[in-house]
Amino acid sequence: MSTAPTPSVLDPLTVRGVAFPNRIVISPMQQYAGTPDGMPTDWHVRHLSTYAAGGAGLVFTEALGICPEGRLTWGDIGAWNDQQTAPLARLAEVIAAHGAVPGAQINHAGRKGSVQRPWHGFEPMSQADVALRGEHPWETVSASALPANPGWPTPRAIGRDEIRRSLEQFAAATARVRKAGFQALNIHGAHGYLIHSFLSPLSNQRDDEYGGSLENRMRYALEVADAARSEWPSDLPIFFRLSCIDDVDGGWTLDETVTLSRAFADHGVDVVDCSSGGLGRRTTTAVVRREPGYQVPYAERVRRDTGMRTMAVGLIREPALAEAIVADGRADFVAIGREALFNPHWPAQAAVTLRGPDAFDGWPPAYGWWLKVRSRTLAVSQAAAE
Ligand SMILES: Cc1cc2nc3c(=O)[nH]c(=O)nc-3n(C[C@H](O)[C@H](O)[C@H](O)COP(=O)(O)O)c2cc1C
Repeated sequence: MSTAPTPSVLDPLTVRGVAFPNRIVISPMQQYAGTPDGMPTDWHVRHLSTYAAGGAGLVFTEALGICPEGRLTWGDIGAWNDQQTAPLARLAEVIAAHGAVPGAQINHAGRKGSVQRPWHGFEPMSQADVALRGEHPWETVSASALPANPGWPTPRAIGRDEIRRSLEQFAAATARVRKAGFQALNIHGAHGYLIHSFLSPLSNQRDDEYGGSLENRMRYALEVADAARSEWPSDLPIFFRLSCIDDVDGGWTLDETVTLSRAFADHGVDVVDCSSGGLGRRTTTAVVRREPGYQVPYAERVRRDTGMRTMAVGLIREPALAEAIVADGRADFVAIGREALFNPHWPAQAAVTLRGPDAFDGWPPAYGWWLKVRSRTLAVSQAAAE
């Protein structure tokens, strides 16, 4: 009896028509380095191209706002107007030029918008920010008029016409990133932003067809998926990021994530990107301890129970852990975030750790040739010392 070979995180994988050279992904990470009108800068070029040269199979941009009010901060970049398409195309181009598949994430920040950059406090903006930086706050919207955190401004409950408009904005942003040359799309349905605010019963207290039952709370997420798919070619994959649990009493549950993930299959979504939390700041003691791979069980459960492909993320730092996640069939992709900030060459280095010095042949030759020679020199010197 023949058995299927055990997959490796370093193996290529094709989803729809896109061939990923390996299964290591750079998770979307906002840089707060855009211009006030939401244009990327040289920092984004450097940031993203370094990860592509560092050996990742897929590099996602940070969350791109689908409208100016869909940003978190004045430093966020976006895909809400046609002038943004050319600079976004430059980002897709440098990622592809350095060997990775270029991916773009789109988002509406909802009630978590209009905040300061993290290092300015990460609090809702006020008149003080106008005085200090000329950056004014804006009115936020959410599923219901409930603030993200105690003391935060109360968002306006988004109206039916605005919901329709936001779906058009998700579709238009998708069309722009497609035109820019990105080959994977990530819809941000996690971390307390607009889509997540519809999913969680803690933030959604609507009494129309978008609130109440699970079917109603899922409606907006599925409509966003449809809107994006209507502009995204059938040979390119869509990832959908979810907070698989709110990790707060009475919040969104893993069972609900499983139900939504099953529904995704009929709405053009290919990969469930399994994150968690972020509805507001933590209001109860953390149920799930933040330890390496703490969100992997969500990816595993979704994959097992729905047959959807999944991406695992969260404190994955050891190559052996990334390898085991894929080899054990717990996820199809492994994403890294902060570890990439620490070491942008983590994927290429993981290949050497897992496969030995011959993996330097997969590095850009200007680095790999020298490092392979160095590894031989070091081996000789170590043997002499023993
Ligand atoms: C600087 C920074 C910016 C982030 N921005 C985003 C973002 O734009 N979109 C998103 O979905 N997650 C964002 N995240 C979350 C990461 O994608 C990732 O899920 C999280 O950092 C956990 O993975 P890690 O432990 O490997 O860092 C951000 C994280 C960091 C550290």
